[in-house]
Amino acid sequence: MVSYLGLLLVPIVGVVFFRYGKTIHKNEYRIYFVFLALSTMLILLIVFNVDVRKLVGLYEVYYSGHLSFALFTLVMAGGAFKKRHKLKIAIMRVRREMAILGFITVLPHAFLRLDLALSGFNSTGLIALLIIMPLVVTSLPIVRKKMQPRMWKRVHYLAYIVYALIYIHLVFDLFVTSEIFYVQIKSTGWVYLMVFTVYLMMKIRVIVIERKPKST
Ligand code: HEM
Repeated sequence: MVSYLGLLLVPIVGVVFFRYGKTIHKNEYRIYFVFLALSTMLILLIVFNVDVRKLVGLYEVYYSGHLSFALFTLVMAGGAFKKRHKLKIAIMRVRREMAILGFITVLPHAFLRLDLALSGFNSTGLIALLIIMPLVVTSLPIVRKKMQPRMWKRVHYLAYIVYALIYIHLVFDLFVTSEIFYVQIKSTGWVYLMVFTVYLMMKIRVIVIERKPKST
């Protein structure tokens, strides 16, 4: 059940953002600060050798990357609905906040698993995180204002690579070193693969619909 936690969190996080979207949007920097402080504290617990597995709830939701996964899945879903779809409008209002919080909340997970990732096991998450960094920086309104919209859009196409990497991270156990190449679908991988396939189909449908010349 815990392996599907990220998927279970999607509607919960979604409802919180839709219900409190305006407040979140108004106080975005304050909220980033609070979560940054929380992530830093959780990282410090690892540094000070606290057995974080014993922090029931926090370990599963935060340290295991499921909260971040839920946030990124909502960000991703925003692009998969038609232009005037209610869900698209609701997500687009708080999409930046979801993405930046997705980054902030994954930091303790990244710190906890850094050794494994650097040894070649499931490094897809680490690669995703490295690509997310410039996206997060350029999403901050102060930075975005200074960029040309076309340039900003080009940089943000990288988000599609991030989505794919996050799902590869959840679908496969991948072990790659100079001597070993091992790949196996996780026991729970099929469910995540199905979710990503549905996303891809919806996204392609939206692209096709929006490219169609409108008949008058
Ligand atoms: C947005 C980026 C990321 C998301 C959403 C994410 C999410 C997840 C999730 C949900 C799991 C399965 C955990 C479980 O079921 O207990 C996982 C596993 C793993 N992640 Fe990430 N992760 C991300 C980035 C990273 C980064 C940056 C690293 C390393 C620096 C990393 C390393 C790992 C490793 C090694 C595993 C396999 C070991 C395990 O299952 O705990 N991930 N990740």
